[in-house]
Amino acid sequence: MSELSVNHLLGIKYLSKEDIDLIFETADHFKEVINRPIKKVPSLRDITIANLFFENSTRTRLSFELAEKRLSADVINFSAASSSVKKGETLIDTVNNILSMKVDMVVMRHPNPGAGVFLSKHVDASIINAGDGAHEHPTQALLDSYSIRERLGEVARKKVVIVGDILHSRVALSNIFALKLQGAEVKVCGPKTLIPKYIEKLGVKVETNLRKALNWCDIANMLRVQNERMEISYFPSTREYTQQFGVNKKLLDSLDKEIVIMHPGPINRGVEITSDVADSNQAIILDQVQNGVAVRMAVIYLLASKIKR
Ligand code: CP
Repeated sequence: MSELSVNHLLGIKYLSKEDIDLIFETADHFKEVINRPIKKVPSLRDITIANLFFENSTRTRLSFELAEKRLSADVINFSAASSSVKKGETLIDTVNNILSMKVDMVVMRHPNPGAGVFLSKHVDASIINAGDGAHEHPTQALLDSYSIRERLGEVARKKVVIVGDILHSRVALSNIFALKLQGAEVKVCGPKTLIPKYIEKLGVKVETNLRKALNWCDIANMLRVQNERMEISYFPSTREYTQQFGVNKKLLDSLDKEIVIMHPGPINRGVEITSDVADSNQAIILDQVQNGVAVRMAVIYLLASKIKR
C-alpha cells in the first residue's frame, strides 16, 4: 500500500491496519531524517498548514509544529485564547477565514468530541484531529504504538494495560482502537467509576486490581486523572487514588517481570506515577515524545500527498 485510505486523520477508528503499517514505515524514514545533522527535507515546500488549538497543549502543539517545519511546510499557529473566537465567531467561520489565506491542511485540538469530523464535512482542507474532548487523540495512539514497536519489536500479541481515568481519556480510546487493530491484548484498570460501561464491547477486559493488571501485562500506559473534564468527584481523594492506582518503584520491583511504563503526559508526579518510575529505564515517556515528531511527519506527509496541487 502506497497511500492512506483516508483524506483526513479524524480518529484511529477510521484507519485500517495497512494505514498504520504505512504510517510506521514512513515514520521510520523520517526518524532517520531527524537524526541527521540537517534535520529537514523539502517535501512540503508547497503546503501551508494551520495549527488551531482551542485547548491547552504542550507536546502535541510543539510536536506538530516541529514536524511541519522539518517537512518545510509553511506554518501558521492559532490559539483560541487570543483569537476572535472570544468575540463570538463560529468554528466554521474561523476556519474558512483561515483557509481563504490559501491553507491546505488544518491540525485542530478542540474540547468538543467530533469537532474534527464536523469540520471535515464543512471546509475544503485536510483535517488532522489533535485531540477532540474525551473522544480521540489519534496521533498520540500512533506514537504510542510506534514506541511499543521500537522497544519490544512488534505490537501484535503484546499485553497492554491502560491505567487510570479511562472515562475521560481520548488517549485511552484511540489506544484501544490502535492496539486491537494491530493484534495486541488490552486491559483497562482504574476505579470502577472511571471505567465506561461499554468498554468490554471494544474487546477490552477490565481489571480493578492494579497488581494483578501489572503482573499480567508487558506494558502499562499510565494516564493522568482528567480533573478538568470532571464535574463531580469519582473517587474519595487523590491520596486514596494514588494508593490504589499509582505506580511506584517498590511496586514495579515486586512484580514477576520487568514491564515497560508509558505515559502520554502531562505527568502528575506522585499521583499516577512516582518520579523514580517516570525517570527510570523502564519508562519510555521521552521516547514517546521524540517519536511523536517522526510519526506526525509521516501522517502529514501521507495526507499531503493526497491533496490535489
Ligand atoms: N499528550 C498530550 O496530548 O500532551 P499535550 O496536552 O501537552 O499536547
